Amino acid sequence: MNSLQSYHDSNKDRFVQELFELLKIPSVSADSAYSKEVFKAADFVADSLKTAGCDTVEICQTKRFPIVYGEKMIDSKLPTILVYGHYDVQPADPIELWDSPAFEPIIKKTELHPEGAIFARGACDDKGQMYMHVKALEFMTSTDQLPCNVKFMIEGEEEVGSENLAEFVKNNASKLKNDVILISDTGMIAKDTPSITTGLRGLSYVEVEVTGPNRDLHSGIYGGAVANPINILAKMIASLHDENNHITIPGFYDKVENLSDEERSEMAKAPFSLEAYKKSLEINAVYGEKGYTTNERNSIRPTLDVNGIWGGYTGEGAKTVIASKAYAKISMRLVPNQDCEEITQLFKSHFESIAPKGVSVKVTPHHGGQGYVTPIDTIGYKAAAMAYKNTFGTAPIPQRGGGSIPIVALFEKELKSKTILMGFGLDSDAIHSPNEHFGLFNYFKGIETIPLFYKYFTELQS
Ligand code: BES
Ligand code: MN
Ligand code: MN
Repeated sequence: MNSLQSYHDSNKDRFVQELFELLKIPSVSADSAYSKEVFKAADFVADSLKTAGCDTVEICQTKRFPIVYGEKMIDSKLPTILVYGHYDVQPADPIELWDSPAFEPIIKKTELHPEGAIFARGACDDKGQMYMHVKALEFMTSTDQLPCNVKFMIEGEEEVGSENLAEFVKNNASKLKNDVILISDTGMIAKDTPSITTGLRGLSYVEVEVTGPNRDLHSGIYGGAVANPINILAKMIASLHDENNHITIPGFYDKVENLSDEERSEMAKAPFSLEAYKKSLEINAVYGEKGYTTNERNSIRPTLDVNGIWGGYTGEGAKTVIASKAYAKISMRLVPNQDCEEITQLFKSHFESIAPKGVSVKVTPHHGGQGYVTPIDTIGYKAAAMAYKNTFGTAPIPQRGGGSIPIVALFEKELKSKTILMGFGLDSDAIHSPNEHFGLFNYFKGIETIPLFYKYFTELQS
């Protein structure tokens, strides 16, 4: 591609400043107090798509937050790339753990990012990664090098389950027709080790409520004589894993895809240092399902984790009380072939069945989604691999990711096209955590690599 370097060099600062403006908008989809801001972020994305060269841009209202759709069609005979991303972000909590305010973006140098990283909620997940695509489009249109058609679909409900996007996709299949879907909302192995995410895990998410006596009780008068919902909940949760850290829900593993020894040894070739991993998390040992390595545990194996647990007195000092109720939020990461609704049902029946007499249990399902795996013998994968080879100097490693983007499975079902997950984040970027950041190196590499994907995909497709 011509002049990318010079275009890039003369626009780098602006690319960062524009992203800063987007990051300043606290578009937290989970918290209704920020609703207005979510709409504001949608407007920002729409304007940026217009500026970047889209011919049509629409803000498509839904029951909740809008989907921003943009397209530039240059020739119906050329391939069409559909770019997906999200402009909503996770809540910033706990805000006291941020070293600088979550919605006041700032560049700071870190050990891993001596050239600087942008610190802000959404810097990596997904505003920064989504905006790389907007700037890549701007580069291609303004230098007259857009090789194919492009459609953008940027949503504002990814972090809360993409509920309205599913309907939008179903109702707009012909409008969204494409040859490949391109997403940057995952990570890569390391700055010098590019990788392409070839799988995402599914998700089943439930909330449980354990009820004991009809009111909170004095723990001296009643303690030991009635079931304490918090004690019971802790016991029930503890029983969900056995001594080998296998999940004990009957039928949970029935459909789990078992990888061949060959596939596992192929996976094990990806560079990984257990020592560095432990050091980065300040833990003295890893923990997980017996018989699997760390990288298997976080990608090809299903898991069950408590995400939050509460009940009783948690204020200052002591209060001697037996709470009437105890609660927990539990997520299960699923692997291909496990069906999220079926797993939710299995969880519900099992959890209800293990409740002892003296308490009652309520299980409420939240949003979920199916997992995804993509083959590497497609034109899309090859084009992505060529693009990385060009900008990083080394071929990318295919790698299954542990996180979930539930809508990807639905894209395949409804739009019949494969998704290429070109993630530029690092595990250490602290997405969903305080001090989320995105390396300037990663941001610029993304902007450089994306146009090459367009070029190679178009060449290989025709
Ligand atoms: N971008 C993440 C998913 C992700 C991150 C995949 C890193 C692979 C590597 C996405 O925004 C996300 O957070 N998804 C949620 C699921 C959603 C239903 C709330 C997740 O994985 O917890
Ligand atoms: Mn994301
Ligand atoms: Mn996320």
